[in-house]
Amino acid sequence: MMWHLISRLLRFLAAKPLLPREQLEVYDVLAPQLRQLFFRQRHEDQRHALAVKRWVEGVPELYEAALLHDVGKTESDLGAVARAFATVWHGAGMQARSRWHSYINHGAIGADLLEDRGASALAVAFTRHHPGPTPTGIRTDSWNALGEADERG
Ligand SMILES: [Fe+2]
Repeated sequence: MMWHLISRLLRFLAAKPLLPREQLEVYDVLAPQLRQLFFRQRHEDQRHALAVKRWVEGVPELYEAALLHDVGKTESDLGAVARAFATVWHGAGMQARSRWHSYINHGAIGADLLEDRGASALAVAFTRHHPGPTPTGIRTDSWNALGEADERG
């Protein structure tokens, strides 16, 4: 848990904004109503999402989930350190409020946004339920591939 948090923090701090060709790579695979959700993420989250997409390269039905699964983090607008604190706080069973609360609930927030904009059932489910067991109606191989890519990304 702690190593996981630290490695995530380091990747966040090292993340560079997407290059134009990388932006185009995203633009090409997302429907117009979903692109905006991707590009209004902090650049660190865009970088992570693109890394997740690249771990599932060659399986186009996973791209939307890979690129959009963390869009619910935008609302809380927390930096790396506050995210780590919010996670530890929540993990210790403490009640999180306002932006921390929003960060802890980013899965549900993002899934609602994606559902409103007609994202795939897989993208909505992964956003809402990751990390966790495969929900009913979702293929286990897709779910596991996305989960592993999210860990690595
Ligand atoms: Fe993620």
